Amino acid sequence: MTKRARIVGVGRYVPEHVMTNDDLEAIVDTSDEWITDRTGIRERRIAADHESTSSMGAEAARRALASAGLTGQDIDLVVCGTCTADHSFPAAATLIQHEIGAPGAAAFDVNAACNGFMSALSVATQFIASGQSTRVMVVGSEVYSRILDWTDRGTCVLFGDGAGAVIVEATPEGERGSVDALLLRSDGSQAGLLYANGPATPGDAAAREAKVVMNGAAVFKHAVVAMAEASAEVVAQAGYSVEDIDLVVPHQANRRIITALADRLGLPMEKVFLNLHKYGNTSSASIPIALAEAVAEGRLKAGDRVLLAAFGGGLSWGAMTLEWGGVRHPEAATADASIART
Ligand code: COA
Repeated sequence: MTKRARIVGVGRYVPEHVMTNDDLEAIVDTSDEWITDRTGIRERRIAADHESTSSMGAEAARRALASAGLTGQDIDLVVCGTCTADHSFPAAATLIQHEIGAPGAAAFDVNAACNGFMSALSVATQFIASGQSTRVMVVGSEVYSRILDWTDRGTCVLFGDGAGAVIVEATPEGERGSVDALLLRSDGSQAGLLYANGPATPGDAAAREAKVVMNGAAVFKHAVVAMAEASAEVVAQAGYSVEDIDLVVPHQANRRIITALADRLGLPMEKVFLNLHKYGNTSSASIPIALAEAVAEGRLKAGDRVLLAAFGGGLSWGAMTLEWGGVRHPEAATADASIART
């Protein structure tokens, strides 16, 4: 019999260094007004030299454990959504597994660009459903600052660094909380719209420079349509109607994309969680960071119906509906002062 899976812990970590839109004016030909109007982003965090996808992911994971009242020993699988892992190998997840003290737990990364966390969470849900795992640490962590072309104003203003984590476990009989429906899709024919080369890209040494390349307008259109269709499908699969959704936690890429998504779904913006003004697009980290902040701010309570939707390079996208089960120590989810920034 398949088991239901629920989220019981959330955590997030963002680097201390804040880069504002004004700071970017000194780097590229842009303005606070342009960035704010077109994207809603006001500032983003930039990792310090000693920080990495695994170090930030481990900190987010520790906070998720604290929020759930668990230790690393309770985890039997670590899945990290990322496309900026510290190394080509080993996986960032294995370094996180060691850092959080989860001896013997399986660990691997999932790369689906900005849809990485949703893909990792879907994997975790299936491992729980099949009985293969009892408790999974799902991390989304990225250091895009290291793969951006800081001379390209069309991309460098959009992204930031950070990490989020959730813990997924089998829902005990008679208790609340479950992932109700999930859907993942991709379209590799559109891979050229958003990509970053890497150390194994064919061609000469210059071709292997990891820099984000994007056709912003085309990505924008695909993102709205794909996330709206996927969201409508999971809501229908779960047997809800859109009015039943209490909170939407979308990938935090651009406020205009999110507004267009809410419009298409017929959902008021009051039901949509937004924090991209503080962090920009943190790729795989954006949804778990947002979930941790939604919990810390009291925006999620047991029994709420939640819709997650993400989109990224690949192209790759997905959506998920779930009933929120509750987190034992919500204050531990963020555990630093930056939550107070508005
Ligand atoms: N500051 C000032 N001007 C900028 C700029 C910046 N940071 N970036 C681009 N521009 C300029 C362009 O050069 C262009 O100038 P031109 O008209 O003289 O050629 C003008 O602004 C309009 O550019 P355009 O690309 O048409 O703007 P847009 O309205 O599509 O907004 C994005 C650009 C990138 C904000 C928007 O396309 C977008 O958000 N796309 C989705 C990107 C995304 O979220 N990707 C990640 C998905 S996971």
